[in-house]
Amino acid sequence: MAKDQNETQDDGPGGPQGGSQTNEAPRKGKEGKGKEAEGEWQEGRYEDPIADLPGFHQTSSLIAIAGHPLHAMSVAFPIALTFCTFGADLFYWWTGDSFWARAALWAAGMAFLIGVAAAFTGTLELLFVPGIRVRAAAWTHAGIAVVLLSILGANWGYRLYGYEEAVLPYGILLSGFSVFMVGATGWHGGKLVFDYHLGTSETGS
Ligand code: HEM
Repeated sequence: MAKDQNETQDDGPGGPQGGSQTNEAPRKGKEGKGKEAEGEWQEGRYEDPIADLPGFHQTSSLIAIAGHPLHAMSVAFPIALTFCTFGADLFYWWTGDSFWARAALWAAGMAFLIGVAAAFTGTLELLFVPGIRVRAAAWTHAGIAVVLLSILGANWGYRLYGYEEAVLPYGILLSGFSVFMVGATGWHGGKLVFDYHLGTSETGS
């Protein structure tokens, strides 16, 4: 871990005058900034101090049924329904059949409502799991998701005042934008799980 490296690190290429007088390497923080500015910062000292926090490795999902995380289970619905809304808008544009405008209204509404429910489970994970709470990437994902939910809500609300007239041009534009945002949100959520292993079992069992 970062701590061990720092403890064993010596004065490095600059010699004794290049580092501190003790073996303890300064962290990139309050007292470390001066050294960094002087160009004396050494490789291996940029370790993220977050990794030393006691709960860093506690990443198992808490909001789960029999070990199956509710967030991961529920996000599939708003993702699919967001694409359905855009598809229905395209079909309405192509055919002029009001069925597609009505289908888009329902898909947009369900994408928003199930999206809010999914965000609720995600927020609980974020707040209550120590190893998730400390990762900046988890907060980034939450931020992108809130933007997505705002667009999904606007897309649905706008259609409630006349679902056929709403499609062209603003409805379909909102749908296109929400497809882009749901892609970004889902891609980033996937990174949390597959790169950072958030929400996964610590023991692998
Ligand atoms: C504020 C709202 C949200 C928060 C705080 C949040 C938080 C999280 C967290 C902590 C994870 C890691 C896995 C876990 O602990 O369950 C995750 C994964 C994920 N999130 Fe979110 N999320 C939010 C909203 C959304 C929304 C609205 C979507 C998409 C519609 C989404 C899509 C995903 C996906 C696709 C994953 C990966 C799931 C997997 O592959 O197993 N998230 N999210």
